[in-house]
Amino acid sequence: MSSLERLTRHAEARLERLRAAGQHRSLKPTSRGPEARARRGGRGLVSFCDNDYLSLSCDPRLAAAAGDAANRYGVGAGASRLVTGDCPLNGALEKRLADMKGMEACLVFGSGYLANVGTIPALVGKADTILMDALSHSCMHAGARLSGAEIRVFRHNDVAHAGELMREAQGQVLVLTETVFSMDGDLAPLEELAALCEQHGAWLMTDDAHGLGVVAQTNPAPIQMGTLSKAAGAYGGYVCAPAPVIDMLTSRARSLVYTTGLPPPVLAAAITALDIMRDEPDRARRAMANAKLFCELMGLPAPESVIVPVIIGEESRAMAISDALEREGYLVTAIRPPTVPEGTSRLRVTFAAGHTEDDVRGLGEALGRAMAA
Ligand SMILES: Cc1ncc(COP(=O)(O)O)c(C=O)c1O
Repeated sequence: MSSLERLTRHAEARLERLRAAGQHRSLKPTSRGPEARARRGGRGLVSFCDNDYLSLSCDPRLAAAAGDAANRYGVGAGASRLVTGDCPLNGALEKRLADMKGMEACLVFGSGYLANVGTIPALVGKADTILMDALSHSCMHAGARLSGAEIRVFRHNDVAHAGELMREAQGQVLVLTETVFSMDGDLAPLEELAALCEQHGAWLMTDDAHGLGVVAQTNPAPIQMGTLSKAAGAYGGYVCAPAPVIDMLTSRARSLVYTTGLPPPVLAAAITALDIMRDEPDRARRAMANAKLFCELMGLPAPESVIVPVIIGEESRAMAISDALEREGYLVTAIRPPTVPEGTSRLRVTFAAGHTEDDVRGLGEALGRAMAA
């Protein structure tokens, strides 16, 4: 058998296993538009599953800023930031982010994923310990594994459990958590975790991917990462920290050093998005009001963020409900293992500034019908 045949057979065997486990995924071309609208397979739909919480990704002001930047600086960065890829828009964006977060300095990365996989191994290594919340995002796990540190996982939002693990930890301890949990939409007890870290000389690092511009939370963590691909409607990741930490990451974070800088149009769009977040606080209020209305309609507890999980349990049922909603004109993705624990397949319903009250009521009614079927 040739190498090519062996490769093809290997892929086919894995695909078969994925299909048997119901874990085969496929891409669905989707054209997104303003105000939470989308087109898929020639049909117009209302999207309740993206992370464009402030409905900024299709805002003409972001598009105009991107176009201007493309004309001025080009569409690509051309090189790593440490070579010639450090277009001045990086510095401008970093200054805005640091000011917004009340932090000393900031470093922009190619994405949130790259920020986590670069920062965590630059902070701790083999002799150290990482304590992380059980629901931390996959890219925090990836960064933790790359660091070589011992990884201990504490029960979700359980500070007492984190404290128990802290007492057994070796070397420098880095504690990782999300500010707003991506799949459950609940908030981390940041003050309590920070107090625990202070008591033990540990460092707290938070992932604010789903909080920036939407949830105003006091965050005492000295290392705060996040992304520009969700509420900011653009792309890119960042880490805010004391200036010497940022200086060190600039030399040591491999996912900054060995990859091309962000495209200037993306940087310009992100800067414009941060301006809009500051000038139009009503966007976050509208998104939150939509989430509250949905929870009232569905008899769910009041939401802590604009992410509302509707736990279904069985994977096939979650998929069937998602399909039924799409037939009625609503896009709500079913999230299933391995993204969430076995038996907790769910609809991850997300709310945006662009949804109208009628959109939310329509979704509630369609979901009621789909769940009763
Ligand atoms: C909690 C969390 N962290 C990080 C990321 C990665 O961010 P990005 O999409 O910018 O790579 C995501 C995105 O899915 C996320 O949900």
